[in-house]
Amino acid sequence: MGMMDGKRGLVVGIANDRSFAYSIAESLIREGAECLFTHLPGDKMARRCGKAVSALGVEDPWLCPLDASSDEDLDAVFDRIGSEFGKIDFLVHSIAFADREWLQEGKFTKTPREVYTQAMDISAYTYAAMANRASEIMPDGGSVIAMSYYGAEKAVPGYNVMGVAKAALEATNRYLALELGAKNIRANVISGGPLRTMSSMAVGGFSEILDWVEKKSPLQRNITGADVGDSAAWLLSDLSRGVTGQVLYVDSGYSIVGL
Ligand SMILES: NC(=O)c1ccc[n+]([C@@H]2O[C@H](COP(=O)([O-])OP(=O)(O)OC[C@H]3O[C@@H](n4cnc5c(N)ncnc54)[C@H](O)[C@@H]3O)[C@@H](O)[C@H]2O)c1
Repeated sequence: MGMMDGKRGLVVGIANDRSFAYSIAESLIREGAECLFTHLPGDKMARRCGKAVSALGVEDPWLCPLDASSDEDLDAVFDRIGSEFGKIDFLVHSIAFADREWLQEGKFTKTPREVYTQAMDISAYTYAAMANRASEIMPDGGSVIAMSYYGAEKAVPGYNVMGVAKAALEATNRYLALELGAKNIRANVISGGPLRTMSSMAVGGFSEILDWVEKKSPLQRNITGADVGDSAAWLLSDLSRGVTGQVLYVDSGYSIVGL
């Protein structure tokens, strides 16, 4: 028996088989969940995401295009899920975006307005926008999660405007938990350690961060996608039913070290 038996939900953020969302879906499926997926609009993105989803062993997957910065796209995805399935039990928000030109050490202060607002929109606001729509089709309660990083609370060189967006994401999570709790919908964030993915390679000095975490974290290793996937499955399952509004660190313990 799996801890997600009988549960269905939406996973947003699979770009390829290195994405955190891929590992989260892998754990969810192993634990018995049915996952629905979105991909960025366009044939190339559809093919990439479709390839990863078929590597997960999902036959005839539910796949829908979504640019999360578009309210029309968001409405279309959640309306379609509502009309095809009636309800869902969980939501995974595993997306972020900032213009990589501004994710370089020493460039935060000059961040242009449109770069700042786009990072905040796609990386933080969309969590509230998705949780709001998901809550309308969670009549029996549910669980929503998003992905954050230590740069939300400490100034990590090169992480820059993405750190500001992650701070907003974590605050958004607390307000979502406060309001959605009355509907028995829980909201939590996983603060993941660094992992080589398409997005993280845009962060200046990322390889140094990986080396440093491996040296200094209590577990003396970097995390794997599966480390996050299994913790996510627990947060999305009823086994974590008393937990909401939290940031769960899946980072080999790096965040507790005072060096
Ligand atoms: N990789 C890391 O080191 C790390 C560490 C902690 C947290 N995170 C967070 O994990 C999450 C997933 O990132 P990842 O590392 O798996 O990288 P990834 O590149 O595999 O995933 C990022 C996803 O965001 C999606 N995306 C970007 N703009 C979008 C938009 N407008 N609409 C819809 N989707 C959009 C991309 O299509 C992609 O699927 C992000 O929130 C990221 O900040 C990553």
